Amino acid sequence: MKVTKAVFPVAGLGSRFLPATKAQPKEMLPIVDKPLIQYAVEEAVSAGITEMIFITGRNKRAIEDHFDKAYELESELEAAGKTSLLQQIKGILPSNVNCIYIRQPEPLGLGHAVLCARPVVGNNPFAVILADDFMDVRQGQPTVMQQMSEVYEREGASILAVLHVPSENTRQYGIVASSPYRQNLEFVNTIVEKPLPENAPSNMAVVGRYILNPTIFSHLEGLGKGSGGEIQLTDGIAALMKQEKVLAYRYHGRRYDCGSKIGYLKAMVAMGLKHPEVMKEFRDFIDELGELN
Ligand code: UTP
Repeated sequence: MKVTKAVFPVAGLGSRFLPATKAQPKEMLPIVDKPLIQYAVEEAVSAGITEMIFITGRNKRAIEDHFDKAYELESELEAAGKTSLLQQIKGILPSNVNCIYIRQPEPLGLGHAVLCARPVVGNNPFAVILADDFMDVRQGQPTVMQQMSEVYEREGASILAVLHVPSENTRQYGIVASSPYRQNLEFVNTIVEKPLPENAPSNMAVVGRYILNPTIFSHLEGLGKGSGGEIQLTDGIAALMKQEKVLAYRYHGRRYDCGSKIGYLKAMVAMGLKHPEVMKEFRDFIDELGELN
């Protein structure tokens, strides 16, 4: 079955990025000139997804405005003859893509945010994309969501994107223990949210890309608060796993944790060095800095 819906939970507080996120969502932070959420939506579009479901909260209006038509801006760009910018603004979303916004009344956790999408997702498989996990792939290579959609179409099982992390960082992630299944795919045996290194079943961490079967919803519904006092998606997946196969996918690509300052800085430098408009001058600047130190 093809995945055509993606859920973007964007209702978190973004406290690791204060004060930048006091009055604006962290998903609107730009990497060079494009906000994180736009990269995430483009990744979904690349995988053939046409229904974008945003789980929003307070202070998130900028996201709706970003994907909405901007009449005044468009007519001003048109009047000024700035056609290339105008095309860029108009083309943020392909015409076959729909955006749906659902408000999460309180930031009760990622599991709760995903559950808020149930009325729109219905009985269909769906992707979950955390825009602050920015995924870069080599030019011409399939995006991480494209890779995962392909695996889903073949396997029909829920899939979690995973990455090896240093043992001391396990407490920042959902961690899986797994056994080999197919190339780049593991069969998940256990999943735990934010274990201390000494309790972690491995150092294979789940990052912000999932494809889930809709059976997850009934498991999320019954959940109480988990790690950090939040309703955790990880706990829902742990319950789902007892009834059906869940796979961990070692994707091709590089992930930047743009919910953290250092991850965001790294992404900005990496993308700045690839951006056609600024790459040359930026490279010279970085070389110059290197020479100074
Ligand atoms: P994070 O753990 O990154 O939390 O959430 P956060 O609140 O955004 O950021 P910090 O930790 O305070 O800095 C993971 C993802 O889940 C979403 C967030 O928007 C983020 O994309 N989320 C989290 C929700 O949509 N609702 C919630 O209740 C919690």
